[in-house]
Amino acid sequence: MREVLPSIAVVGAGDRGTGYAAYVEYAARQGLPGLRIAAIAESDPGRRTGFAERFGVPEAARFSDWRELFAAPRCAEGVIIATRDDEHVEPALAALRAGYTVLLEKPMALSEADCVRLTEAAERAQLPLLVCHVLRYHPFWKTLRGLVAEGAIGEPVSIRHAENVSYWHMAHSYVRGNWRDAAVSPMILAKCCHELDLIVWLARAYADGPLGRGSGLLPRRVASFGSNLEFRPERAPEGAPARCIEGCPAASRCPYDAVALYLTAKPVFLDAAAGDSRAAALAARLLRRRRRSRNSRAQDGPMPSRAGPK
Ligand SMILES: NC(=O)c1ccc[n+]([C@@H]2O[C@H](COP(=O)([O-])OP(=O)(O)OC[C@H]3O[C@@H](n4cnc5c(N)ncnc54)[C@H](O)[C@@H]3O)[C@@H](O)[C@H]2O)c1
Repeated sequence: MREVLPSIAVVGAGDRGTGYAAYVEYAARQGLPGLRIAAIAESDPGRRTGFAERFGVPEAARFSDWRELFAAPRCAEGVIIATRDDEHVEPALAALRAGYTVLLEKPMALSEADCVRLTEAAERAQLPLLVCHVLRYHPFWKTLRGLVAEGAIGEPVSIRHAENVSYWHMAHSYVRGNWRDAAVSPMILAKCCHELDLIVWLARAYADGPLGRGSGLLPRRVASFGSNLEFRPERAPEGAPARCIEGCPAASRCPYDAVALYLTAKPVFLDAAAGDSRAAALAARLLRRRRRSRNSRAQDGPMPSRAGPK
């Protein structure tokens, strides 16, 4: 066990940066004393001060820009980079140059060339560069991966995945919010980079395990399609003004009414994420049952051989 626990710097005290810092604080309370937030780089003064006060970051370790943080002598072992999508690559490169282990928010970059730049920089620096593909740690996906690895569904041939962005999430993040400009960060990166990661991760679970040895089963092609059906001017309710706050005749029955959502805080977000782990447990039970019945059928006679060209 290591004697000195890592100190962490955070770049971006927004939603994600603050959330991760809270996990660091939680882990420290749970028996990892010494783990601490050592520095913050945040351009918004209010957010910077609020974050620094909450997590006990000293004055000297509060920076108004990631460039200042990485120009100063290294003050932590690792850094969490939680700026917006189009500001991941440069701070991550600077962090690696400055000798930090990097935990980088997704999408790691907005172009393939930048992804390559980042991995090459991490290799050159011989430092870990981790990307926040958090779904890998979710009980649902962990269970599914275990089942794929142990052959519960046989040899995977293709993986089809629908990213079911809830209506409120779509409206909040991708129509009104930070990710509304698809030219900067299109859905395939802003949201579906998680799916791209999961597809490779699931395929590898089988390919790298004992059952898939030599199968070479890894994604060769990934296809994705979709478009915006709902949020188009021609689908607006009759008489709707340009903005909800201008008095919309459909407000009382509209799930996207900004006044209800943001001013009177009607709790539409609460229906969002319940039941994921229950769904994972149910899927596992169903697959085990199916495997048991397949095995008992197999006792009546051999299963067809899968040998042959792949
Ligand atoms: N892993 C996941 O599941 C997941 C989920 C949601 C969002 N994200 C990603 O996390 C990232 C951050 O999202 P968010 O919602 O926290 O955004 P946010 O806008 O709340 O936070 C970003 C922060 O970075 C600060 N910032 C901007 N320029 C800076 C600079 N030069 N130096 C220092 N700070 C600077 C901003 O002032 C802001 O406070 C995004 O890339 C997003 O796609 C990941």
